[in-house]
Amino acid sequence: MEFKIAVIPGDGIGVDVTREAVRALDQIAGVYGHTFRYEKRLVGGCCIDAFGTPIQEETLKICESCDAILFGAAGGPKWDHLPRKDRPESGLAALRRTFNLFCNLRPAKIYEDLKDNSPLKAEVVNKGVDLMLIRDLTGGIYFGEKGTRQGKYGVEGYDVECYSAFEVERVARRAFEIARTRRGSVTSIDKSNALESSRMWRETVTRVHDADYPDVELTHLLVDKAAMELACNPSRFDVMLTTSIFGDILSDEAGVTTGSVGMLASAAINDKNFGLYEPIHGTAPDIAGKGIANPLAAIGAVGMMLDIAFGLKEESAAVDRAINAVLHDGYRTPDIYRDAPGQIRSTTEEMGVQTAARITK
Ligand code: IPM
Ligand code: MN
Repeated sequence: MEFKIAVIPGDGIGVDVTREAVRALDQIAGVYGHTFRYEKRLVGGCCIDAFGTPIQEETLKICESCDAILFGAAGGPKWDHLPRKDRPESGLAALRRTFNLFCNLRPAKIYEDLKDNSPLKAEVVNKGVDLMLIRDLTGGIYFGEKGTRQGKYGVEGYDVECYSAFEVERVARRAFEIARTRRGSVTSIDKSNALESSRMWRETVTRVHDADYPDVELTHLLVDKAAMELACNPSRFDVMLTTSIFGDILSDEAGVTTGSVGMLASAAINDKNFGLYEPIHGTAPDIAGKGIANPLAAIGAVGMMLDIAFGLKEESAAVDRAINAVLHDGYRTPDIYRDAPGQIRSTTEEMGVQTAARITK
């Protein structure tokens, strides 16, 4: 089959890891006889430097003509002084907004060969962590009304958290559907003891569940309790469903239980299943261009793309197998290297090459 992919490495280590993600795609193409055509574009700080804007109109049009977007990371200290709308991150926000990428999938799982990297106790890790955090990505406080105004104590800054039943329902349906393909359980996370928007969230999730997904197990959890459970008892979670801000925080916590944020991939998709695939780590400017970033999150994002965007389940499984195999064979970038017997300290490129070589039928 033939697919067109917008490739947007962005800034910092986004560039290093995206190169290896494309190597994995090329290997898939060779092994399975597909054709991937790449449209490489600048978004983020690099685009500000080249064109004076974090994203060009033309890039949005090109993305629209593609079957999926592969994204690296955007941002860096060089552009930190800019006002919010001109910052590199606005390029990513424009992609999320333009394509209505409301459903953010952030899987976190502990790889067998990285068990010792988890900061959690062995007795907790041994119960396994394999969860899918589903975060609403286009509603809530990050996209709500915001500004500064005169208040009781002088000037104040404000951001509004607001959810419509429509927004909750569409992301909840995705969560229930994904739970059906996994272990059949959804934990919906809110703060309904304090927030009106969370009451709307909880009522809507319950209504959609009772009407159309009674076969899926549904549990509600307050976000503070969920944060504790993630640290003490993460194996209880299958699908976690939550708002934009809670999901932002909990996905970092879920991610770190696996030992390195350098291992975590994510997808942001819309109602037509069009999406952007990216590692969840940022640009890590301190190690950018040094060839030591871990490319496995970006390669994992390719695995998600093959499955979700292209329906290539076998190919996606081959990427997963390759990641497991390269770890099993001892290859470790510095973020996951522990100086244990059999470990091979690897560069970004070596990790990418060795992973690609393990993508086989
Ligand atoms: C993330 C990031 C972004 C978000 C920031 C950069 C706005 O933290 O993808 O988790 O919260 O959406
Ligand atoms: Mn975040």
